[in-house]
Amino acid sequence: MLSMVFLRCASVLVVLGPMAGMACGQDDFTPNYDESKVPEYTLPDPLVMQDGTPVADAETWNTKRRPELLSLFREHVYGRAPGKPEQLHFEVLDNEPQALGGIATRRQVRMHLTEGTDGPSIDVLMYVPNAGRPVPAFLGLNFYGNHTIAPDPNIRLNTNWMRNRGPGIVDNRATDETRGTHAPYWPVEMLVKRGYALVTMYYGDIDPDYDDGFKNGVHAAFDEQVTGPLADDAVRPGDAWGSIAAWAWGLSRCVDYLETDADVNAARVAVIGHSRLGKTSLWAGATDERLALVVSNNSGCGGAALSRRAFGETVSRINTEFPHWFCDNFSQFNNNEAALPVDQHELIALIAPRPVYVASATEDLWADPLGEYLAAYHANPVYKLLGTTGLPRESADLPPADEPIKTGTIGYHLRSGKHDITGFDWQQYLDFADLHLTKE
Ligand code: GCU
Repeated sequence: MLSMVFLRCASVLVVLGPMAGMACGQDDFTPNYDESKVPEYTLPDPLVMQDGTPVADAETWNTKRRPELLSLFREHVYGRAPGKPEQLHFEVLDNEPQALGGIATRRQVRMHLTEGTDGPSIDVLMYVPNAGRPVPAFLGLNFYGNHTIAPDPNIRLNTNWMRNRGPGIVDNRATDETRGTHAPYWPVEMLVKRGYALVTMYYGDIDPDYDDGFKNGVHAAFDEQVTGPLADDAVRPGDAWGSIAAWAWGLSRCVDYLETDADVNAARVAVIGHSRLGKTSLWAGATDERLALVVSNNSGCGGAALSRRAFGETVSRINTEFPHWFCDNFSQFNNNEAALPVDQHELIALIAPRPVYVASATEDLWADPLGEYLAAYHANPVYKLLGTTGLPRESADLPPADEPIKTGTIGYHLRSGKHDITGFDWQQYLDFADLHLTKE
């Protein structure tokens, strides 16, 4: 394969010619895309406790190993987050029962995180099929604001910080021109017609996606619950929550809301995310057992991909480029993946026995498709121990492209094409959800 350098600055992918140098003005980094250069590694065994005790039954997994693994991921990777805020309350902003030509209800709900209505809040947008009974739902964070996921002029324009929309664009306000610009990634009508609600929130409402020393977003309101009182110049504890943990926390708050919404079956919520938000959906699924199904779309490093393979994006690279995503302790494993007490197959195992679907794309080498498949594959022993089908495939080789494996409790596909979420991806997730979320 030609040696290429992939530069990604704030999700913009530029493919340069052979061996171009600098990445995002920060450091020299040439990703390894050569399988023969993947370091030798031994994965930690999800079914062996840290003290060497084997985990031979579901009871030991549930009461000992699962809590141990969760705590290791909290301490070393994503950080510790606070619980549900005592003052959390919900305000239905509007309700349109005749949306999408009458087949759905569009509802916008503000989740107030503190007392009253002047404090921090997160806006939820949902389209619910007019089914006359509680329906299953797909819940996913969006990158650019609720108003971008559908061309509906009545979706509220967000007044918070907006993710930059591309190189050279400095205006980070939501505008009318950006309505519906990301609709192709959110097949609302397809979901509604197949009987699912779509529930989404803008991830920047929870925590703006830039490194500001955790001074804004939900960190500003709740950090002290995690860190204790800190002097202004004090260093935050190494295991305090980063942005991925904050976004996952926001997803859990939305489940809190859905538990109060009579039109949604809150016991049948699938969480879905693409890329950094795929990392987030996996961590949300690991930490919140109310999420009934988890989808990771092209989540890569710090998501589904095994860290020890150091293929494409590495731990060191991600901690350098995005220092706010993980807890500070994670940077102790920069160029030192073998010392990690966990690897990402154990993140997937934390979702067991609930169904999980991991998807990769052939041209998304930065996210390490084989590393993503292997993480799903090596989570299998836990799924089996808990009495589920797990991944219905024996081989540790990457499956052929465009042949989804979707009949088990662990689903996987490698789609032809680039880093993206497409109609093909959604079709597979809906088929998988039909199998697990629609039975009586
Ligand atoms: C960058 C980053 C990835 C991430 C992606 C995204 O490419 O390196 O880890 O998944 O952005 O979220 O768009």
